[in-house]
Amino acid sequence: MKHLLSIEELDAGQLNGLIDSAVQLKAERGNHSSQPLAGQTWAMIFTKSSTRTRVSFEVGVRELGGSIMFLSSNDIQLGRGEPIKDTARVLGRMIHGCIIRTFDQQDVVDFSEFGNIPTINALTDEEHPCQILADLLTVKEKLGTWEGKKVVFIGDGDNNMSRSWIWAAKYLGFELVVAAPASCMPPQQWIDKVNAPNVTLCTDPVEAVRGADIINTDVWLSMGQEGQAEKEALFGDYQVNAQLLSNAAKDHIVLHCLPAYRDKEITEEILELHADTIFQQAENRLHAQKAVLAAIAR
Ligand code: CP
Ligand code: NVA
Repeated sequence: MKHLLSIEELDAGQLNGLIDSAVQLKAERGNHSSQPLAGQTWAMIFTKSSTRTRVSFEVGVRELGGSIMFLSSNDIQLGRGEPIKDTARVLGRMIHGCIIRTFDQQDVVDFSEFGNIPTINALTDEEHPCQILADLLTVKEKLGTWEGKKVVFIGDGDNNMSRSWIWAAKYLGFELVVAAPASCMPPQQWIDKVNAPNVTLCTDPVEAVRGADIINTDVWLSMGQEGQAEKEALFGDYQVNAQLLSNAAKDHIVLHCLPAYRDKEITEEILELHADTIFQQAENRLHAQKAVLAAIAR
């Protein structure tokens, strides 16, 4: 692996390898046998807000021996219109790796090409690869495996998390049902491109959740969509609440990448009932990203 730009470009072997490495790094935290980022300086360029991603990368890079700087796009010339390819060519001559959170997936791709240093997608409108790795690690810890499990992604079926889950299902082979309003499903052309027969789209949330082992949700309006009241109004039947979960398998788990909006996509009651899993999932960002950093550091 040279970069982590998307889950799409990985394969099952790489996904499993990263999760196994995350398990090991988690077990040996505070006692790492190697420091793959020793002597390196990394940067984070963020155009969107972040709590978990920012903190877990700052801690993760340091724990692997490197140092890291946070660059809000508002504070660097990128925010005043300097092209990403110029930013990449400057930083690529000074730092050893870059972690980018932005809107357009192409910006991350361009940075990796022009910067010629390891580049990590820390969330774009298209994908959130670091989050799905942490989610898979959490599934492995809580249920032992994703094999043979029924996973439901409920909410906006066409956002960065649903797309990341769809790619993960394609490569890892578990059953995934995406439950969303019809207008919030990925375009047919994209579904055809993914070509994953184990992924189904379902507009009926009760049917989708029936017998599910893993119920996973995310905000109805992603960053950049604030104020889209018409879109938000479509999701009334798609809330993860006690009534909906009464249809799930007996020992189901609930995942949420956070931040969570209570009484929108999930009720306070359900979030607190599953807080142990959901905050373990948040912690796992650190371990999964350390696995990525160790895999791509040069
Ligand atoms: N889940 C996630 O990426 O959280 P942040 O937006 O806080 O980084
Ligand atoms: N889909 C959400 C994920 C937040 C971590 C967003 O893009 O805002």
